[in-house]
Amino acid sequence: MEATNTPEPRCLISVNGTQREFTGPPHTNALDFLRSSGLTASKEGCAEGECGACSILVAREDANGTRWTALNSCLLPAAALDGQEVITAEGLGHDAELHAVQEQMAAGGGSQCGYCTPGFICSMAAEYYRPERTAPSAGKAEADHQCGPNGFDLHSLSGNLCRCTGYRPIRDAAFALGDPATEDPLAARREQPAPQAVATDITRPDTPNGEIGRYRRPANLSEALRILETEPEVVLLSGSTDWGVDVNLKGARAKSVLAIDRLSELRQLHNTDTHIEIGAACTLSELERNLAGRIPLLGKLFGQFASRLIRNSATIGGNLGTGSPIGDTPPALLALDAELLLASNSGSRYVRLSEYFTGYRQTVRQPDELIAAIRIPLPLAKLTSFQKIAKRRFDDISSVAIGYAVTVHDGHITQARIGLGGVAATPIRALATEAALAGKEWNLSTVRDAAAVMADEGTPMDDHRASARYRQAMLASSLERFYAEQLTPPEWMKAETK
Ligand code: FES
Ligand code: FES
Repeated sequence: MEATNTPEPRCLISVNGTQREFTGPPHTNALDFLRSSGLTASKEGCAEGECGACSILVAREDANGTRWTALNSCLLPAAALDGQEVITAEGLGHDAELHAVQEQMAAGGGSQCGYCTPGFICSMAAEYYRPERTAPSAGKAEADHQCGPNGFDLHSLSGNLCRCTGYRPIRDAAFALGDPATEDPLAARREQPAPQAVATDITRPDTPNGEIGRYRRPANLSEALRILETEPEVVLLSGSTDWGVDVNLKGARAKSVLAIDRLSELRQLHNTDTHIEIGAACTLSELERNLAGRIPLLGKLFGQFASRLIRNSATIGGNLGTGSPIGDTPPALLALDAELLLASNSGSRYVRLSEYFTGYRQTVRQPDELIAAIRIPLPLAKLTSFQKIAKRRFDDISSVAIGYAVTVHDGHITQARIGLGGVAATPIRALATEAALAGKEWNLSTVRDAAAVMADEGTPMDDHRASARYRQAMLASSLERFYAEQLTPPEWMKAETK
């Protein structure tokens, strides 16, 4: 959605139906803004997007109007909410009349100390109002422990941690929810358009010694590119799930940040006969919905990318823009042979992702460029997989991540592309393994020979997530796992190929 044109030196944010003013400092996160306004339901647990105690609801644009979207307020700059509508746990219900979600949590004993509860309530409310939530067909609820008989997707709570109640009562409360009543104001709000992103410019003292900081949301892409040309040192924000952690935990402050996550030019999805082009500012959740399985390898990645709360904010371009060697999208996008569209005021260019990373958090992107889109060539390989090895199944950072895209014709491998994350200073292609597979028969003997090659890919190192030996062992076993997946497709894969 293109931002409207006249920036105000302050932000106006609708919180629980009341207009509240935010004037800075620019690094202030939405959680601190809300709590300093007296709305203390949202809590700070981790300040890095891992506990969900700070979850709030924000009205976001959706194909049919507005979607109530749960976000981590600890990572979200307060200025990013300029002109937006926010609901906190205080706005959902009150003592005299609890919200349906609060009622079920109370009735089911879903809260003990209560610290995590407002965050759970907001995430649960987002799922309660999810337009696609419908009861699964008969028998499906029993077969799928991740989806309730009311269609409640437990992954909506994957970013919320509870340390004392235990998850069973919380799950029971979620599965006991009915549908919103027609007179429910938040349900009715979904039918209307979401607030537009507005051009924002907050310039205020931002450090104890009075240094000035600036937060800007440009009106459109041209303005963003002009700013980048004249101020190449500006920090680009597209989701803020990385920068928010640096601000909260490392005290990072920037003289100037430029938020590009709501620029309509960067939020398009184009399908052609030769490629699919994804706007860099699409969030992971939006892509999950809007691609709807069109790129199966990405479909396998989405559910493993952090948590629903993070996927609601994090953008695909942001995940590439950080240049991190352990981002989850690069291994999958390398396997898909993706290209990036880099745009600047003087023009734009496509760069293959395999040539994008140049060193640890270094890329070929020039200071005046931003990632505008990701282009994925068609046709797609038939055999794909995304393997993420991490300490927890969800809501974690990978130790090793591997994306596969393999084409087999007449029993022979005609093309194999393998993307690796976490085993070198940058995400890399497993080129030696690809060469070991190319042209060979697709059988266990080939796979075992290539697995020996794969064990030596990259330069894995020891860190607090995993040892080099462990990473190497994961590489060594990965290819056989991939092969086994293709022989005995799991349920989701069967559904995909029907
Ligand atoms: Fe833990 Fe925000 S405080 S996710
Ligand atoms: Fe205590 Fe969840 S109720 S942390």
